[in-house]
Amino acid sequence: MFNTPTLLALYHVMRKGFIDRMYGVVSAGKEARVYWAKDRKGRDVAVKIYLTFTAEFRKSIKQYIIGDPRFEAVSSDLRKLILKWVQKEYKNLKRMFNAGVRVPEPYYAYRNILVMEFIGENGVRAPLLKEISLSKEEYERIYRKVVEYMRLMYRVAGLVHADLSEYNIMVYHGEPVIIDVSQAVTLDHPLATHFLLRDIRNIIRFFREKAGIETHTIEELYRIVTGEEGVLEWEE
Ligand SMILES: Nc1ncnc2c1ncn2[C@@H]1O[C@H](COP(=O)(O)OP(=O)(O)O)[C@@H](O)[C@H]1O
Ligand SMILES: [Mg+2]
Repeated sequence: MFNTPTLLALYHVMRKGFIDRMYGVVSAGKEARVYWAKDRKGRDVAVKIYLTFTAEFRKSIKQYIIGDPRFEAVSSDLRKLILKWVQKEYKNLKRMFNAGVRVPEPYYAYRNILVMEFIGENGVRAPLLKEISLSKEEYERIYRKVVEYMRLMYRVAGLVHADLSEYNIMVYHGEPVIIDVSQAVTLDHPLATHFLLRDIRNIIRFFREKAGIETHTIEELYRIVTGEEGVLEWEE
């Protein structure tokens, strides 16, 4: 089920106590699998393990790594790229968490393995925003929270999520939890504004068209998130 390097990495994480027992697969994505596990204290954790790196994925992640000063001198070595990608996800989670954005609390990252807070109960993950149907009032509250998190992410953490949509927001106890932050970039990344506008458009589209609530305009949301006037770039 796991290759040898992954087994060795898992063994290391277990010896550290961040994983004690692994249970079922919560999600099997194209590149990463997420497992429910318990740590040595018996606390539920989510374990995200990167297993395969397709050529397509490799190409797509380069645009997020190149331009991020934390990841200068990107190696073309695939193995090293994976390690950087997991470190990037861990650091991004930490920065967002410290900025007050509701994300899974990151616990540990090693090689291709990331251990974080499990969002859910008894091994059952919380639903994604796109998987549930809520009342207008609930959507409005979640929308306001998501806007606040985008603002904190930008202004306090200095990051743009860059893949924000109803697919990467979980709803836990009626509150949004932002996930999947590996591709988030710092504000000095050359495409930061481009990614931010894409996030803004995704969020407005979902809450307007699917949730059926009133939202800000793109310009308004851009101003709320960044504190700056004017959208500098348009893309259709
Ligand atoms: N901390 C977590 N707790 C519970 N479930 C999670 C957690 N993180 C991710 N998941 C589940 O795993 C899925 C995939 O995780 P995600 O980080 O979005 O990876 P990707 O989309 O790259 O495969 C999510 O849609 C969610 O259902
Ligand atoms: Mg995802």
